[in-house]
Order: sequence, then structure tokens, then C-alpha cells
Amino acid sequence: MDEHSRQGTGPPGAPTAGEAAPATASLGDPRRPAGFRENGRPPRPGGIAVSPASPDDLPRILEIQKRAFLADCAVLGDWTIEPVVQTLREVEDDFRSSAVLKAVGPAGELMGSIRARRGGEGVYLFKLSVDPALQGRGAARALIGAAEAALPSGRYWLKTRSGNEPASSLYLKLGYSKYKEEEATPALSFTFFEKLVPDGARGGPGGAPSPEAPAGSRARGAGRPSPCTPR
Ligand SMILES: CC(C)(COP(=O)(O)OP(=O)(O)OC[C@H]1O[C@@H](n2cnc3c(N)ncnc32)[C@H](O)[C@@H]1OP(=O)(O)O)[C@@H](O)C(=O)NCCC(=O)NCCS
Repeated sequence: MDEHSRQGTGPPGAPTAGEAAPATASLGDPRRPAGFRENGRPPRPGGIAVSPASPDDLPRILEIQKRAFLADCAVLGDWTIEPVVQTLREVEDDFRSSAVLKAVGPAGELMGSIRARRGGEGVYLFKLSVDPALQGRGAARALIGAAEAALPSGRYWLKTRSGNEPASSLYLKLGYSKYKEEEATPALSFTFFEKLVPDGARGGPGGAPSPEAPAGSRARGAGRPSPCTPR
């Protein structure tokens, strides 16, 4: 795969992490904290670097994942959803069978991660999670862009809990379209998104065939509906 996809400080042609917030963004608007953008979201700091995770990153990646998905737990009233009960061993399984990318902020802080794997239906992006304390700064946007660059494909797809507005808004903004919705339980539906890339390379670098089902199928949450497994 593309060994190193950087945001902001990267090589020529690499995507940038987004514009810096104007220093005067909050002038005249007492409801908006200093530096926050007009949409009320925090400034994008720039300098977010996305690169392949190393085995040493996995404990911290799992910790952030668990904290990020607590928001879903709260909505569902279920504190045992698959991303939250995943074990380090299962994340290590994912690491062996998927590309795992991490986003690191300007101060060297691990902001979040994403996993991506090839399958018969294109490239599946999953377990996107950003530290709740560092959300709204462009990390997810950078991670998805880097994952797409790392695994060239004619099709990318992902799914999320229906009603997950931050995720849905993000995917739509990045050119994904909703293509189906499935009810997993009476209380839980998933919305599937895809992005078709007409000229996208198929089987490019990093495209070694990978299993259709993620290694997480052995996960403790296996068999339970999850926004982070293909089915
Ligand atoms: C969804 C998630 C990954 C977004 O991460 P993030 O780093 O905050 O996202 P970004 O800063 O890159 O935001 C990019 C776009 O996403 C959308 N977005 C992100 N957070 C949002 C929020 N709270 N409300 C509305 N839109 C939001 C916006 O369109 C935003 O664009 P903008 O900054 O121009 O407004 C993060 O909220 C998260 O980890 N959630 C819990 C886990 C999860 O739901 N994962 C994905 C589904 S499986």
C-alpha cells in the first residue's frame, strides 16, 4: 500500500488537512468560541499526518475506538456493541488482514484510525473512530482520504448506524451516496454508503486479496449487528 499518506506536511500532491481557521472567526459572535468556524465546529489545525499504524499503536487505537463508539452505546442503550467490546487480540487480527491507518495531530497525539480491506465488492472502510476530545478537526476526513489513496479501487463502501449524523454527514460530504438501509433489529438499522470511482484502479498497490469477512468475525461481538462488520 501507499506507505505514507500525509496531510498538511506531506509530499507534493498529498491532500491537505483543510484550511486553518481565520484568527478573527469569532469576532462579533459571542456564541462562538474564539477561532471556531462559522458552522460552530472547532478549527482544523492542519498538520494532521495519516500513516500506517504499527503494532505498538494498536492498544491506543483500541482505547480511542472504545471511547468514540460510546456515543453509539448511549443512543442504543447497549454498552456491549462490537466496537466497544473488541479485544486487543481481535484488533491484532484486523491488523494482519486489513490496512490500519492512524491520524496523528500536530503535537504528535494519536487522533484516530480507520481500517480498510479489499473484498469482492470493492474496498470496505470500517472502524473509523476519532478521539472524542479531538473530533471536528478534520481527522476523519483525512483518514478516509488516505485510505482511498492507499487502496485504489473503483468502489469504496462503508456502513453506519442509521441516525449517526456525524458519520452520515461526513460520508455525504466526501462524495459517498446512500445505497441501502437494513434493519438489524427493531431498534437498530444500518445505512450503507458507497463511492464509485469510474477511473479507480482495481487491484493496485496494497490490493492483495483479503478475506471477505473480517478477522473480527471471531470477535466477541461476532454475530451481533455492528456498524463495523461487512454484513
Ligand atoms: C464520525 C467521526 C469519525 C467524525 O470524526 P471527525 O474527525 O470529528 O470528523 P471531521 O472533523 O473530519 O469532520 C468532517 C465532516 O464530518 C461531518 N461531521 C463530523 N462531526 C460532525 C458532527 N458532530 N455533526 C455534524 N457533522 C459532523 C461534517 O460534515 C464535517 O465537515 P465540516 O468540518 O466541514 O463541518 C467521529 O465523530 C467518531 O469517531 N464518531 C464515533 C464513531 C463513529 O460513528 N464512526 C463512524 C461510523 S462506523
